[in-house]
Amino acid sequence: MDREPQRNSLDAYWMPFTAQRQFKSNPRLFTGAEGIYFKTSDGRDVLDGVSAMWCSNAGHCRPRITEAIRQQAGEMDYSPAFQIGHPKAFELANRLVALMPGGLKHVFYTNSGSESVETALKMAIAYHRVRGEGSRVRLIGREKGYHGVNFGGMSVGGMVANRKMFGTLVAGVDHLRHTHGDPGNFFSRGEPEHGAELADDLERLCALHDPSTIAAVIVEPVQGSGGVIVPPKGYLKRLREICDRHGILLIFDEVITGFGRLGTPFAVEYFGVEPDLVTTAKGITNGVIPMGAVFAQTKIYEAFLQGPPNAIEFFHGYTYSGNPMACAAALATLDTYEEEGLLTRAASLAKYWEDGLHSLRNHRNVIDIRNIGFVGAVELATGPGGPTQRGFAAYLKLYEAGLLCRTTGDSIAFAPPLIAEHKHIDFLVDTLGNVINSID
Ligand SMILES: Cc1ncc(COP(=O)(O)O)c(C=O)c1O
Repeated sequence: MDREPQRNSLDAYWMPFTAQRQFKSNPRLFTGAEGIYFKTSDGRDVLDGVSAMWCSNAGHCRPRITEAIRQQAGEMDYSPAFQIGHPKAFELANRLVALMPGGLKHVFYTNSGSESVETALKMAIAYHRVRGEGSRVRLIGREKGYHGVNFGGMSVGGMVANRKMFGTLVAGVDHLRHTHGDPGNFFSRGEPEHGAELADDLERLCALHDPSTIAAVIVEPVQGSGGVIVPPKGYLKRLREICDRHGILLIFDEVITGFGRLGTPFAVEYFGVEPDLVTTAKGITNGVIPMGAVFAQTKIYEAFLQGPPNAIEFFHGYTYSGNPMACAAALATLDTYEEEGLLTRAASLAKYWEDGLHSLRNHRNVIDIRNIGFVGAVELATGPGGPTQRGFAAYLKLYEAGLLCRTTGDSIAFAPPLIAEHKHIDFLVDTLGNVINSID
């Protein structure tokens, strides 16, 4: 057997969510990052139009965060997560709950958005059980939703390609209709006018399954990976009301909207709707070290505190829950956000951003533009080669032109670091406009 390392081969690494053959025939490699730019292996600067993967909210290689990680690695690299704590995990929890309005005053640490979602779903089902409502086991997601790639999140998720190859998924899951596609909402600036009544779809599912079988509804306040789908005015409030009426928990998946994307620390504040659980990740450490956190209402946390005091109440957790390196990174991230006012900065950029994106309305094949806070997407009509062909062509051309985006189908999405200035938005809009007009 040949054990010589194939040092220059790209084959060994099976890349996530990547077209292996396309990528490996012409790889795109980043070798450095600073502020709002990546550096490519061939020496070019690429403007980070999407905070890498919606996570580098403060931009890249921020000195405070880098230094905190360096120090923590030398002081205490790791400590056990179960039955033992360390001060930074508690300090961080207090800092986090201080940012969250209302009664969401407890946090459970995870290592990713997917794990936060699994944790929240398990909390919801277990919460009903500890209160004596063990029949509430069903979970409701929404079409076009993205809640990560583990079995629970994939099951409540509603992106077909992420589900169809993986069998029958978790039992007892149903989906609300998505809110995208009303022609009256195309080119809306911010929240669209039409569609609050789509929340009533939950009543349909209650009538079908009986509310006494439903544990929780999970939605992204703004659907990110589904193509930046902004909720219609009043939709989330209505969903909250229906959940309340039927004793169903409401979970907001804020993995993308958390940590300043909309101009408030969390979408909870932006929409004035308080869910029972909130899932976060990504921006919690500026993407630098994997970490996630689930926020729970006090009533949920306290419901578990029964039985003998030395008995574990919630049989769930990860080896790396609250690991010291991640906590150090998160604390320094929060310091950076605070010092630079980044958790509210999107509010002051939002109008300029909106005007910039909507200036592309009459460009070639543009059929919709959506935006809110400092996130947005331009959707192209599906091309003759089928869905994703134009979107992916745009992705590649934008990369060549020095701009990083994300695409879903033929929607081209952006969520630049919250440190962006008007000149960066100008570059983004100009480059995007030129590229769109160059695609058949
Ligand atoms: C709303 C939402 N939930 C969950 C996830 C999954 O996060 P991760 O990739 O960290 O597991 C994502 C990732 O983009 C997301 O956008």
